[in-house]
Amino acid sequence: MSPYRGLFEAPEEPVKIVDDGSGNRALEKTPVTQRLFDFASKEQAKLTPNADGLLFVPMQARGKFPVVLTPNKEYTGDTVKIAAETEELQGLIGYVQKLGMNRGKWRDLFEPQELEVTDATLPRSNEWIAYGKEVYERRCLGCHGAKGDGNGPAATFIFNQRPRNFTLGVFKFRLTQKPVPTDGDLLRTITRGVRGTAMPAWYELPLTDRLAVIQYIKYELAVDRTEPAKPYAYFNEEPPGAPLYIGRPPASSQDVVTRGKEVWQSAKCWECHGNTGKGDGEKAAGLKDDFGFPSRPADLTSGQFKSGPAVGDIFRTMSTGLSGTPMPTYRDSLPEQDRWALAYYVLSLSAFKDPLTGEPLPISAADRAALNNPKLEAGSPDDAYVPSGGTTHRAAASGATLAATPQKEE
Ligand code: HEC
Ligand code: HEC
Repeated sequence: MSPYRGLFEAPEEPVKIVDDGSGNRALEKTPVTQRLFDFASKEQAKLTPNADGLLFVPMQARGKFPVVLTPNKEYTGDTVKIAAETEELQGLIGYVQKLGMNRGKWRDLFEPQELEVTDATLPRSNEWIAYGKEVYERRCLGCHGAKGDGNGPAATFIFNQRPRNFTLGVFKFRLTQKPVPTDGDLLRTITRGVRGTAMPAWYELPLTDRLAVIQYIKYELAVDRTEPAKPYAYFNEEPPGAPLYIGRPPASSQDVVTRGKEVWQSAKCWECHGNTGKGDGEKAAGLKDDFGFPSRPADLTSGQFKSGPAVGDIFRTMSTGLSGTPMPTYRDSLPEQDRWALAYYVLSLSAFKDPLTGEPLPISAADRAALNNPKLEAGSPDDAYVPSGGTTHRAAASGATLAATPQKEE
């Protein structure tokens, strides 16, 4: 890390992990840690060192009480090396993120994002697994860890949403009833990435590599080895079965969205997601995932959807739930039509909002009407809506006229 020293506060001396007297493993109070944390604070910052004992301290942890959280024995040593984020690093990250940020909806229409159900299952093959291991070690190990336990060298830097621990065979994004996904589900997730988290989209990786790494995850990593003599391979013992059928979405309309809002109320989505969908409901604080890490209800106003932005993606989430997290399945409790209505309502929560600030976008009434016109097609990046003026882009210009007079194509 030495070349980037200015971006981190990284004291030379290791810091001890001690018992804080109330059952927490915490950082020892020293002049170094007192500069970063407030040992009298009631607010805890839960920090997880990586397998090498490096502990990242994000800006948001400063001034809180430093608890070391390793629910699955992520690190068993008794000292850590601290690397604390500085304002310079925060500023740099903010700047780079802004460069990569594009307001347009084009990413959602981008071909890899459209990969839906496939049944591309390969039979188990040792050659594929061996090749998948090479791919994994090159591309995935940094976050998911050599053993697939989600604690690779970079994992300590990923504190908002930990890299998945594969060893429990629990997956979030799937079209199956049980937490074990099909190859098609894994291929979709790996190809699309998980928006809003560190999990990249791997569409540029050759399909062969993606299929091979799936084999390696399924047969070598998604294995419970707590009893070394009797390893339990989830994909062999609990095969996923056929993907659930998802029909075509009903057409969207104001009535559907209104119905969705009623279902939102009666199904009590607000208990976790909050009345406005910001993820701040009364039950939100303190939720944990199956691995013992904090789990935050999604902010449904951000327009960033982990498992895809199409109405069918939201419907899938509602139908299967997100295994390993508090997000329940509604397949049995809500009729299909209600789940579609809810999916449209969820999408309406982020409509016309700035993805960075969540504030409503300044859109003229005419443009808004045009964008709401179901006849408007935005099938290519050129059609992305440009908030300021939009004279050169077809969606805003032709959309606006679409509502008034039909426009001639050039
Ligand atoms: C920069 C860090 C990073 C890298 C590199 C990375 N991942 Fe991930 N991955 C994550 C994070 C973080 C999550 C958790 C997202 C979540 O739970 O919302 C995740 C989740 C997953 C999931 C779980 C999906 C589910 O349904 O639960 C799979 C599968 C996966 N990654 C596969 C891979 C593969 C294969 C590679 C290498 C080709 C890879 N990842 C590389 C960070 C990474
Ligand atoms: C017990 C708390 C709880 C309740 C009740 C709940 N959710 Fe969730 N929900 C969560 C959590 C936690 C997540 C985030 C899981 C994750 O990403 O790891 C989530 C995620 C989601 C997502 C995924 C967004 C994405 O990024 O793809 C959607 C959509 C969603 N919830 C909709 C709903 C709707 C609609 C209801 C009511 C029918 C509901 N939730 C009820 C806790 C809850």
